[in-house]
This record gives sequence, C-alpha cells and structure tokens, in this order.
Amino acid sequence: MISLDPASLNPTRAYLLQLACIQPRPIALVSTRSAEGVVNLAPFSYFTGVASTPPTLCFSVGRRQPEKDTYANIVATRELVIHMVDRSMAERMVACSADYPPEVDELTACGFTAVASEVVKPPRVAEAPIAMECRLRQVVEVAEDDRGAHLILATILRYHVREAVWNGGRIDPSPLDPIGRLGGQSYCTCRARFDLPRPPKPEQG
Ligand SMILES: Cc1cc2nc3c(=O)[nH]c(=O)nc-3n(C[C@H](O)[C@H](O)[C@H](O)COP(=O)(O)O)c2cc1C
Repeated sequence: MISLDPASLNPTRAYLLQLACIQPRPIALVSTRSAEGVVNLAPFSYFTGVASTPPTLCFSVGRRQPEKDTYANIVATRELVIHMVDRSMAERMVACSADYPPEVDELTACGFTAVASEVVKPPRVAEAPIAMECRLRQVVEVAEDDRGAHLILATILRYHVREAVWNGGRIDPSPLDPIGRLGGQSYCTCRARFDLPRPPKPEQG
C-alpha cells in the first residue's frame, strides 16, 4: 500500500487526490436566486443525504474570493432547489460549472428549462428526474487559513419526481438513470446494477 500524508501535498494535489479517492459521488445540481432575482445553477459533487427526520441534505461549496454565487445566494435568501442529474443532463450540467458572471441566468444559458417552484423562489429544472425544494438549515464552515469550504445543510420542503421514475410509489433506478462523478473529468452511469438482500435481523429473546 502507498502511504500519503495529505499535509505533505500541495493544495491542488491534495484536492485532486481526495476527489479521486471518493468515487463515485452523486451530483447535486443546485438552483438559487440572488437577492436581485437572478437565477443561478451549478453542480456540486461533495453531496449526500444527512437525515430523514428532518429530511436533510448536505453539499459543500469551496471557499474563494469573491464567494461562489451559489453560496452567496443561499446565505442571502436561504432557499435552493437540489436536482439529481441523469445521463441526458450531463453535458449541460458540466456547462453550468463554468464561471459565469453573477448577472447571467445559468439555468437558461446552459439549455435547461425553468419551472416555478411551489414553496421557494428559485425555479426548478424541468429536465431533472428529481427536484427537491429546500430551505437552508445551517452552514458549517470547514476552514484553515483562507482555504476550505462551507458545508450547506438544507431541509427538503417538497419533492418533485418524474412519473416514469415513480414506479408504484418507489424510485426506480433504471428510468432515473443517475450519473456519478469519478476522479478528474470522468463520470459513470449506474447501468450495471446488482441487488443484494440485507442479512436477516437476529430473532429477539
Ligand atoms: C461535476 C462537478 C462537481 C462539482 N462539485 C463541486 C463541489 O462539490 N464543490 C464546489 O465548490 N465546486 C464544485 N464544482 C465546481 C462548481 O460547480 C463551480 O465552481 C461553479 O462555477 C460554481 O458556480 P457558482 O459560482 O455559480 O455557484 C463542481 C463542478 C462539476 C463539473
């Protein structure tokens, strides 16, 4: 085995190593609105679920100056929509990661269609198989010197699920067709699926 001390690596190398070690990662495509009403859309793959009561998701936004629009908008308005990304959205999702100036509506500029949300101001993306309207719960700063990230914890207020994915009341992974992020510029689909039953619970008493 190769043994590596992250403190001995330069920051870029340490970042790339960490990205490449955690594979695959789901991708949150996050829509927000600035206080002035400009829509922003950006992908985040440091993303997962945290709790189901209250229904909570988290993703982390790397710090920089000026801060990323997603972080600035969430702090200003406390509202966001988190979308799951399927294979058909991959190229447009990556296009959203370009550095657009804050006044550009990235959702429309990258070829997606905006639909009004039910309970939050940022619109949702019509093309996404799942959209979750959320309110900011907490920001956790994970920082050292001028580096680090803001971990966003968000409470889900509404789910929107495409009908083809809602198979008898359960999310069906085949029509969902989610993608994951690998290291570097690589992504994966989840098309080679296998199912494993959990071990039975031991009998009580
Ligand atoms: C697939 C993918 C995943 C990404 N994941 C993250 C992430 O977890 N955290 C982060 O800060 N940036 C991440 N980025 C980069 C942001 O999307 C990028 O900085 C974007 O410009 C931020 O947009 P904003 O300034 O509009 O918020 C990712 C980019 C891609 C393509």
